[in-house]
Amino acid sequence: MKSILRSHRVSVLTALLCIASPLPVSGQMHGHEHMNMQEQLHVHGHGGMITSTAILVATSGSSVSGTLKFREIEDRIVHITGTVTGLTPGKHGFHIHVNGNCDSPDGMSAGGHFSPAGGKHGAPDAKEHHMGDLGNIVADAGGRANVDVIAAGVSLALMGPGSIDGRAIVIHAKEDDFSDPVGNSGARVACGVIEADMMRM
Ligand code: CU
Ligand code: ZN
Repeated sequence: MKSILRSHRVSVLTALLCIASPLPVSGQMHGHEHMNMQEQLHVHGHGGMITSTAILVATSGSSVSGTLKFREIEDRIVHITGTVTGLTPGKHGFHIHVNGNCDSPDGMSAGGHFSPAGGKHGAPDAKEHHMGDLGNIVADAGGRANVDVIAAGVSLALMGPGSIDGRAIVIHAKEDDFSDPVGNSGARVACGVIEADMMRM
C-alpha cells in the first residue's frame, strides 16, 4: 500500500510594523561657529615668536639655491630673510604661492599666487594686490640676493586667516612688473615649501 501523506501547514502571520515617529530634528548648525574656531586656532606666538623655514629647490635648468627664514614679528607681519644664490643679476619676482608643492620640474605644482581675498596682482604696497605678492628681490652682479622682505597680512600659524604654513615661496626668472594677473615675471627658477620650525625634528 502506498500512502501519501500530505501535510499542509498554514501559518498566518500577523506582521506588526512599528514605525517610530521621527523626533523633531533640532537645527544645530555649526557653520557660523567655524570661522570663530579658526580664529581661535590662530596662535599668537605664546611664549615666543613663530618661525618657519623654506629651503629653496632649483627648478629644471636653474641653479638657484638658498634658505629663507620666516619670523612673525607681529600678528600677521612676517619678516623674511636669507640669501639666495645662482640668480641672474637684477630683479626677480618673489611670491607666496598657494600650494606647498615644489615637485614639478617647472615649479608649476605650487599653483598660483596665494590670494585668499582674490583681487588683482600688484605691488605689495599697492592698494590692490594678492596677499602673496611680495614684489621683487634683487640679485647683485654675482647673482646673489640678500632677502629682507616684510610680508603683511600673512601668518605663520598652522591654520587660520592668512596662514602661509605649508605653502610655497617662489622666485621667478624675471622682474615682477606688477601687472595683473601675475606680473610677467616669467619662469619659476626656485621653489621652497614654508615649513614651521616647531614641526621639525
Ligand atoms: Cu610667483
Ligand atoms: Zn599676484
